[in-house]
Amino acid sequence: MNILITGGGGFLGSRLAQALARRDPKARITLLDTLREHLGLTGSKKGCDHGQCGACTVLVGGRRVLSCLTLAASVREPVTTIEGLASQEGSLHPMQQAFIDQDAFQCGYCTPGQILSAVACVNEGHAGSDADIREYMSGNLCRCAAYPHIVAAVKQARSAMEKE
Ligand code: FES
Ligand code: FES
Repeated sequence: MNILITGGGGFLGSRLAQALARRDPKARITLLDTLREHLGLTGSKKGCDHGQCGACTVLVGGRRVLSCLTLAASVREPVTTIEGLASQEGSLHPMQQAFIDQDAFQCGYCTPGQILSAVACVNEGHAGSDADIREYMSGNLCRCAAYPHIVAAVKQARSAMEKE
């Protein structure tokens, strides 16, 4: 099994491999439970556990996935969680900074999933207009209804990410 949690380097990758190796390889453990229960990476949230809220969104190979619907044993590419999004030096990712600047959260429960989905939104070219952003982000629910601020954050980060 070749899994690496980006941002954590080999240490976290090794911990994940060890956590999985201790289990029956046929065990049907999800990526979300692996991250939260076996690695202590609790940034990815368990909202519905049924693929309906987006709180568990992470990036696998740069593409967003719902970790509650993803079997850990099926993962073959690097996983990026909210813990691994900032640079190794500790500076925030432009999307994290934009969420702060645009006041794009209240309780924060949905925010890790929103941010990772938003990163994919920009990287996959779906941030061209407000309507495109809303459509792409529609799978990430926010009970605090921070949606207008989230769209503003995606647009702010898009500009910064395009300059990188
Ligand atoms: Fe995965 Fe809700 S916890 S979509
Ligand atoms: Fe509270 Fe989104 S900020 S659920």
